[in-house]
Amino acid sequence: MADVKKLFIKTYGCQMNVYDSERMAEVMGGQGYVVTEVAEEADMVLLNTCHIREKASEKLYSDLGRLRPLKAAKPDLKIGVAGCVAQAEGQEIIRRMPLVDLVVGPQTYHRLPEMVAGRAPAVDTDFPAEDKFDHMPRRKAMRGPTAFLTVQEGCDKFCAFCVVPYTRGAEVSRPPARLLAEARDLVERGVREITLLGQNVNAYHGDDWTLARLVRELARIDGLERIRYTTSHPNDMDDDLIAAHGEEAKLMPYLHLPVQSGSDRILKAMNRKHTAEHYLRLVERIRAARPDIVLSSDFIAAFPGETAADHEATLALIREVGYGSAFCFKYSARPGTPAAEKPELPANIGDARLQELRDLITAQQLATQTAMVGREVGVLYEKAGRRPGQMVGKSDHLHAVHVDDPAGRVGDLVRVRITGSGSNSLAGLRIK
Ligand code: SAH
Ligand code: SF4
Ligand code: F3S
Repeated sequence: MADVKKLFIKTYGCQMNVYDSERMAEVMGGQGYVVTEVAEEADMVLLNTCHIREKASEKLYSDLGRLRPLKAAKPDLKIGVAGCVAQAEGQEIIRRMPLVDLVVGPQTYHRLPEMVAGRAPAVDTDFPAEDKFDHMPRRKAMRGPTAFLTVQEGCDKFCAFCVVPYTRGAEVSRPPARLLAEARDLVERGVREITLLGQNVNAYHGDDWTLARLVRELARIDGLERIRYTTSHPNDMDDDLIAAHGEEAKLMPYLHLPVQSGSDRILKAMNRKHTAEHYLRLVERIRAARPDIVLSSDFIAAFPGETAADHEATLALIREVGYGSAFCFKYSARPGTPAAEKPELPANIGDARLQELRDLITAQQLATQTAMVGREVGVLYEKAGRRPGQMVGKSDHLHAVHVDDPAGRVGDLVRVRITGSGSNSLAGLRIK
């Protein structure tokens, strides 16, 4: 048997990176590596990076700096950088931080074993023709009742501010037969909820299937109780997917549908190819199909050229939609994107607008949570709570719910009456 070695992975960025980190752990598992939560005891450290905002890559370099003493004490320690900064900066990372042994992009991490063994180049940021998922081991036992499943990667949209089309490449969908097999395999291992992932998940088009068709087929798998998907683009919400929200009981009533801005002028400058009105009518149609759906979004404050009136239009759109939650970001220029050519707004304007967006979203989040009090929802227990006899899980609407249930076990899907709302979670009583 090969020696047991320890692998420490730190994950930044989106859920796709969380998924990729799990798969990298499995690939290295085939080489005798087991995952550790303690960097100091690792034989290999992998930083799975995100390039979406400025701070993310600064953070990588400071984290790498902090690994210096560890590398000095353990010269055999392998340090790898994966993910979107790896894709964007490649060789430059090793130039700037010579302690890094290997750099691997999001599409080539199935080659990690060869890279670690020194049989392949130390920097690999290809977009290979082969599918990395064809070169990976079967998914190992899951730690909980929920799992991610990447169904689509990359993006052809080229929003003016965004690096994803450059770091993740063109839109590629995985074949539906593979996905159904992977989903069945996950369910056999105890998974009850699957979140389908893609940078533009609703643009899914594997073997000419739509995302709606994939969802409907997945819903027929016995033992799979809940289906979610993220992230969606408004322009790819087709009629069948909207209808599925009303027809498929397993498709959960929560949808992350980023709009970015409520100003048509800014949406145009962002190359979003939809207007605020188009988005609002879309929300109406989705709510007609599934009236209790909770919506979330991403917003960018202070995009270049944004006026006070544009910002007001975003606040107005938020008021009109009424979100359950949302991520609000201050615009940050990403080198190589078209928006980075334009002059930025002063930082204090960006900070003030960001704060206004966040305050409004926080108020809406609390209102959405309070409106749940008294209602009956499904809750899938994900872990034990802090108090003895308490379980914590997610509601159908993706709220964290604390339930006093001494008989409860991780993986139970129960009916709960919501009795109270805290700042970031709900409390409830199990009914059955
Ligand atoms: N594919 C998804 C999400 C992409 S990245 C979508 O199309 O919505 C997640 C979020 O990061 C984006 O929705 C956007 O709000 C934010 N973001 C991306 N680039 C940014 C930048 N340069 N500055 C600030 N926020 C950015
Ligand atoms: Fe980025 Fe736009 Fe693609 Fe989303 S749709 S990943 S924001 S380019
Ligand atoms: Fe970040 Fe790459 Fe995801 S840039 S948000 S890790 S796709």
